[in-house]
Amino acid sequence: MATIILESVSKRYEAATIFSDLNLQVEHGECFTLLGPSGCGKTVLLRLIAGFETPDTGTIRIGDTVVASAGEESVPPDRRDLGVVFQDYAVWPHMTVLQNVGYPLKLAKIPEKEYIEQAMRAIGLVNMVGLEKRLPSELSGGQQQRVALARALVANPSIMLLDEPLSNLDANLREEMRFEIKELQRRLGITVLYVTHDQEIALAISDRIAIMDETGRLRQLGAPVDIYESPVDFFVFNFMGVANALRTNRRGDAVCVGEGAQVLHGPPQPAGVASLVAGCRPSDVILRRPDGTADAPEGVLRGKIRRASFLGAVMDYLIEIDGAYLRTEVETQEAIARNLMFQDGDPCDIGFHALHWFDGADVPEGHRPV
Ligand SMILES: Nc1ncnc2c1ncn2[C@@H]1O[C@H](COP(=O)(O)OP(=O)(O)OP(=O)(O)O)[C@@H](O)[C@H]1O
Ligand SMILES: [Mg+2]
Repeated sequence: MATIILESVSKRYEAATIFSDLNLQVEHGECFTLLGPSGCGKTVLLRLIAGFETPDTGTIRIGDTVVASAGEESVPPDRRDLGVVFQDYAVWPHMTVLQNVGYPLKLAKIPEKEYIEQAMRAIGLVNMVGLEKRLPSELSGGQQQRVALARALVANPSIMLLDEPLSNLDANLREEMRFEIKELQRRLGITVLYVTHDQEIALAISDRIAIMDETGRLRQLGAPVDIYESPVDFFVFNFMGVANALRTNRRGDAVCVGEGAQVLHGPPQPAGVASLVAGCRPSDVILRRPDGTADAPEGVLRGKIRRASFLGAVMDYLIEIDGAYLRTEVETQEAIARNLMFQDGDPCDIGFHALHWFDGADVPEGHRPV
């Protein structure tokens, strides 16, 4: 089985602890993404699994084999049945596509005829047939990326470790390549561990996502839709997209927005939290044109448009409600049809499809949904 299991893994460098007591299990055939901010330890984790680093404590298993266990001799990288694309994906500039892709086989002393056949198969998998005689300098960034992928696939690994393999590509190519990677993973039935700080990629390709914080601790693990819809804390919520965080004040039993007296109706409140923050996505906001009355109707908040931006397909609004800010988008066609083409300073009415309560202590001072 092509599983990866980490049990109580710790790793520290002289100055810093990267992980302590990390447990993680990647299942056979799944596309698992580890998502976390820069410097949280994603690359270190892949290097541990690939065998370029050894854990200080704990055990790493690939399938049924213990490949590393603290204090014991570990299985060398080339015997772990892994394909790896590292962050800088360095393809060798003086070698052709075919030579680059076939290099791991050449190292393994596979006879020439066989290695050319296998390398051509891998080149086919990433849609590069016809370009095998070119040098990297004669390829686009996306094509070089494919060479690195083909090189990782050439030895038929049952597991691929991918470290931000799309970070050097422009937005269009990134989108195209992420679908290709997903498609390749499905077609070959391989297990993929993908690390990135890009939540859009994680949502698009993953069967499961784990969110790691800057101290190397896992905050949440689950299916993309669960993490997006039910974040366990503000860190996760903030990491998964534009995060509106409305500070509140209490008036008796009521929780009111910002510094004002407009009551916020939401799900049951968590107990024992001194300062509640209401979180919502831009798509959770329901925007209306006020009907001319001085106050918003029951259950609706009255705010003011502070920034109206026309972004082509959508109108993007920054709205203030009694000193609290939130952002939302309305499709331009809908905005025209429903009289929602607001201008700076216009009053507006706001409701919510969904709200989450968070502990204000977890929300960074000055957090703005930008
Ligand atoms: N060989 C090393 N010696 C000492 N410190 C290291 C070493 N390798 C990594 N680190 C430190 O470990 C921490 C995690 O680094 P890592 O490269 O895993 O981050 P990352 O999550 O991959 O970040 P990014 O998203 O920027 O690639 C960083 O603080 C880094 O400075
Ligand atoms: Mg990294």
